[in-house]
Amino acid sequence: MRCRILVLCALICLFVILTEARQRKVSSRSGSRSLAARNGNRIHRSNVRQRSGNRLSARSSRSARSPRSKNLKKRGLNAGKKNRRRRNLAKKKEGRRKRNAANRKSKAKSSSSSGASFATLPLDFQQNFVRTTDDLRSEKVFLASRYGFSFAKTSGSARLRNRANMEYTCKLSIGTPKQKFTILPDTGSSNLWVTGPHCRSKACQKHKRYRPKKSSTYIKDGEKFGILYGSGSVAGVLANDTVSIAGLTVTNQTFAMTTKEPGSVFTTASFDGILGMGYTSISVDGVTPLVQNMCAQDVISSCRFAICMKGGGSSSRGGAIFFGNSSTSAYSGSHSYTYTPVTKKGYWQFELQALYVGGTKVSGAVQAIVDSGTSLMTAPTAIYKKINKILGCKETSSGECWMKCSSDVPDVTLVIGGKKLVLMGKKIMVRVQTSKGKTICVSVFIEVPDEPLILGDAFIRHYCTIFDFTNNRLGFAATTYKT
Ligand SMILES: *[C@@H]1O[C@H](CO)[C@@H](O)[C@H](O)[C@H]1NC(C)=O
Ligand SMILES: *[C@@H]1O[C@H](CO)[C@@H](O)[C@H](O)[C@H]1NC(C)=O
Ligand SMILES: *[C@@H]1O[C@H](CO)[C@@H](O)[C@H](O)[C@H]1NC(C)=O
Repeated sequence: MRCRILVLCALICLFVILTEARQRKVSSRSGSRSLAARNGNRIHRSNVRQRSGNRLSARSSRSARSPRSKNLKKRGLNAGKKNRRRRNLAKKKEGRRKRNAANRKSKAKSSSSSGASFATLPLDFQQNFVRTTDDLRSEKVFLASRYGFSFAKTSGSARLRNRANMEYTCKLSIGTPKQKFTILPDTGSSNLWVTGPHCRSKACQKHKRYRPKKSSTYIKDGEKFGILYGSGSVAGVLANDTVSIAGLTVTNQTFAMTTKEPGSVFTTASFDGILGMGYTSISVDGVTPLVQNMCAQDVISSCRFAICMKGGGSSSRGGAIFFGNSSTSAYSGSHSYTYTPVTKKGYWQFELQALYVGGTKVSGAVQAIVDSGTSLMTAPTAIYKKINKILGCKETSSGECWMKCSSDVPDVTLVIGGKKLVLMGKKIMVRVQTSKGKTICVSVFIEVPDEPLILGDAFIRHYCTIFDFTNNRLGFAATTYKT
């Protein structure tokens, strides 16, 4: 009996030992598995992060739960049940084992490629690199200089006409055969428009109209167009046609034919349309502007233009507009350009580092734009008031400041790109005629609250300006002529 009990005891002991040993084996295997998961299972880790993130998002936005966060929440619930249900755990383990196996396989792959048989050298490549037309263009320029030949015409200039130091215009033609227009080059907007064939506004009746039926290259578009300027607005429809300026031709240029030019703003204007020369981001209807198309179509080899304006009142020689890499030395002599980066690609905006009137600093670093479509200069209220205090002029309710024409005005200094650009005091005062025929003098600075400082023609007249799309920068060189 005792013997039988002993044998039974021994059998039970053996069974217990065997079972324990088996369990130990299983647990040690699963231990190594979880290590592997910790080492290299990215999917698993990101799941954990998502789960904890989900808790946050569920709390913060319970009312508007996205389908994705609902899904995550479900996953979270499953995780809770997992602790209670062993069957579930087994399923999960199975899934994880499969994932880990796949993971180990991919790990093995990567380790063999970086193994001893070869040395892998990391290539220094730029992510999201796209070969741009700029690259092609600079390659062309390189080839041209190395082998001494030229690719077609790559630059050109058009003469500006100055009307009363207030409007600078130039010639532009649209269509085949060419229909000629007078347009205002405007760096403060980005759309091209001319008077349309069916516009009945008074302003339209006074200007040259584009006739689509007379152009063999006209392509109908029909999309509606509307633009609001500081001084007025126009409405119209879009069309495509060939556009030429400064001897350079762009095909398929989208522009607007006006249907309405309300009010009196454009009635007395000396131009039939406006040529916007800013960045595409401020272009109405997302239309690609003319200069950008010149660059895209390789019409100019250097994606930039320059404007030099002459003063001295009305003149057919009011300066010039240069496209591509043509020299402005006829206006800037040997003066070199001072460059500053564009800070916001919409208008031609940059940081004016400081502004002085006489020896007094009226502003530290402030955003400014160069706008050939504005005749004077504007300043936000605080700066405007400081300037006027030094000039000793009298502010009007319409945001101008009147002064005696005999006033002695100090020089104004703009600090741009670390250089001092000076505007002579007598250029800060402009003579204007009142509606009663009296001549008065006003400061070139006009109040425009909550906007960057605007440097208009009153500035460009003294500094030829390069608008460089390739390097996204502005360049300024003093003009050599007396104005
Ligand atoms: C007009 O020209 C642009 C390119 O400047 C092109 O994308 C667009 O499709 C053209 N529109 C029509 C109606 O051909
Ligand atoms: C203008 O663009 C449209 C659409 O991209 C194209 O079908 C048409 O051939 C182009 N016309 C010219 C003259 O380039
Ligand atoms: C532009 O022309 C000048 C000479 O006028 C030259 O020195 C410069 O390298 C040219 N730049 C480009 C980008 O072609």
